[in-house]
Amino acid sequence: MAKKKLNVGMVGYGFMGRAHSNAFSQVSHFFDLPYQPVLKAACARNADNLRKFADQWGYESTEQDWRKLVERKDIDLIDIAASNDMHLEIANAAAAAGKMVMCEKPLGRNAAESRKMVEAVEKAKVPNMVWYNYRRVPAVTLAKQIIDEGRLGKIFHYRAKFLQDWTISADLPQGGQGLWRLDVNVAGSGVTGDLLAHCIDTAMWLNGGIDKVIGMTETFIKERQHNLTGKKEPVGIDDASLFLARFDNGSLANFEATRYARGHKALYTLEINGEKASIFWDLHDLHRLQYFDHRDEGRTRGWRSIHITDGDHPYMSKWWVPGLQIGYEHSFTHQVADFLEALDKGQSAAPTFRDALATDLVTDAVLKSAATGRWESAKG
Ligand SMILES: NC(=O)c1ccc[n+]([C@@H]2O[C@H](COP(=O)([O-])OP(=O)(O)OC[C@H]3O[C@@H](n4cnc5c(N)ncnc54)[C@H](O)[C@@H]3O)[C@@H](O)[C@H]2O)c1
Repeated sequence: MAKKKLNVGMVGYGFMGRAHSNAFSQVSHFFDLPYQPVLKAACARNADNLRKFADQWGYESTEQDWRKLVERKDIDLIDIAASNDMHLEIANAAAAAGKMVMCEKPLGRNAAESRKMVEAVEKAKVPNMVWYNYRRVPAVTLAKQIIDEGRLGKIFHYRAKFLQDWTISADLPQGGQGLWRLDVNVAGSGVTGDLLAHCIDTAMWLNGGIDKVIGMTETFIKERQHNLTGKKEPVGIDDASLFLARFDNGSLANFEATRYARGHKALYTLEINGEKASIFWDLHDLHRLQYFDHRDEGRTRGWRSIHITDGDHPYMSKWWVPGLQIGYEHSFTHQVADFLEALDKGQSAAPTFRDALATDLVTDAVLKSAATGRWESAKG
């Protein structure tokens, strides 16, 4: 049967513009889906770079103004892979134009922005999804299945960290292409919204809602040259962010993110300790899930390192033969596959804008707590 075409308009051609384009291109080769994504138009401001990107990825056309893209009758879905300051305006316009909307994380620069975006997509009743892609790393999806089956029993602890080291140099400027993450006006926050948001999304997916938090942040380099003004400007982002949390299910958690952990490039790890079993996952070894089950026979009991490559494992039957692993980019392909399957049923795939708002309520609470020094509600 002929597949239904789904015309994609992509905003942004950076890191995520490439990751998403790859996912849209690959998904129909590996997944049997009712829809076939079509790379209809790419949008960014620099004409030369945009042309090169569009040619390299096979986009049929280009637009330099996202407003024109949103108005186009031949676009079904707007995918926002631009910096955080653009998410609200583009998502609202896209929803008002009746387009489906996918948006990169964090949804807004703060929960107030995210709330407006939720209202916009829910009012327009358009399918929507936020790219918290780590949910679709097969080892993490397996962790979710194991937890939902009750194998961990009562959960006591959740522990997550996301460590990088790329902003340690005081000579690194802030702002502009590639460095907008250091400019608070564009990013909204530092590692709290950038890195912890990932940890929080995965945590609430695996372990339920977060009730309250107490946090601590630091900005180690107080001033940096700004690429757009040419002047030294105060740094408004948090360079490091740590918080303790209590989940709704009573479990205790600690979270840490920093860009000042020398030697670590993207060390995202999570560990969950339950009454009966524990799990541990590490992004640097993303195709493995570490699992310890106390019910195993005593003499051989120990941590199992499950190589997530078997047809029994989530998503893996769609790829190669057992023993051959997949990587980071596949998590985006899985997310598109799930989105297209949900679309056929008239639904949105999780995480929706509303799910992502819950994460922004937690990151707002962490930043608030870091300022007040008190426990803060993570429910908004
Ligand atoms: N899911 C993930 O794991 C993940 C990883 C990295 C980034 N992100 C998120 O993805 C988004 C983009 O990050 P990135 O790393 O790709 O950044 P990037 O700097 O590589 O790319 C940003 C893109 O935004 C475009 N852009 C900015 N303003 C625009 C405008 N007015 N019109 C059209 N295009 C515009 C730029 O041209 C550029 O192509 C951010 O929200 C970021 O937080 C998510």
